[in-house]
Amino acid sequence: MERTLSIVKPDGVKKDVIGEVLKRFEGAGLRIVALKMAQLTREEAEGFYAVHKERPFFSSLVDFMVSGPIVPMIIEGEGAIKKVRDLMGATNPADAEEGTIRKDFADSIEANVVHGSDASETAAFETSYFFSAFEKFEGR
Ligand code: CDP
Ligand code: MG
Repeated sequence: MERTLSIVKPDGVKKDVIGEVLKRFEGAGLRIVALKMAQLTREEAEGFYAVHKERPFFSSLVDFMVSGPIVPMIIEGEGAIKKVRDLMGATNPADAEEGTIRKDFADSIEANVVHGSDASETAAFETSYFFSAFEKFEGR
């Protein structure tokens, strides 16, 4: 059983597609085992995206991620990391496949509605970044 972190980003919350994203994950046989709404500080957003800190888009990405509330969640299931990435679609919605969350709802390569961990190491770091042991309801 694999776990991954997903986030409905500020643009997705503003567009009222939280339920749509949850439905797509659950509809694919994945299970939501932790969920909340939160607003990040700059420091928290910078820490979350630390791997990207040398990239030209980093400070704009941080501005975007603190621009409103987000909905982080832990998703559990067989092959959850890849399944969530497949449901999300490509980073740039212009390149995303039909029927993916980003194709259907994203406006730009930055405001692309959802986050999903990209590997097991990042999933372990990211799930713990947002949720304590007492907030995870795994393996039910
Ligand atoms: O989210 P994903 O793993 O698909 O992409 P990433 O390469 O890990 O980049 C993280 C996030 O940075 C993206 O989801 C975008 O919100 C943002 N980004 C951006 O604003 N401009 C880029 N050229 C690439 C990414
Ligand atoms: Mg990524």
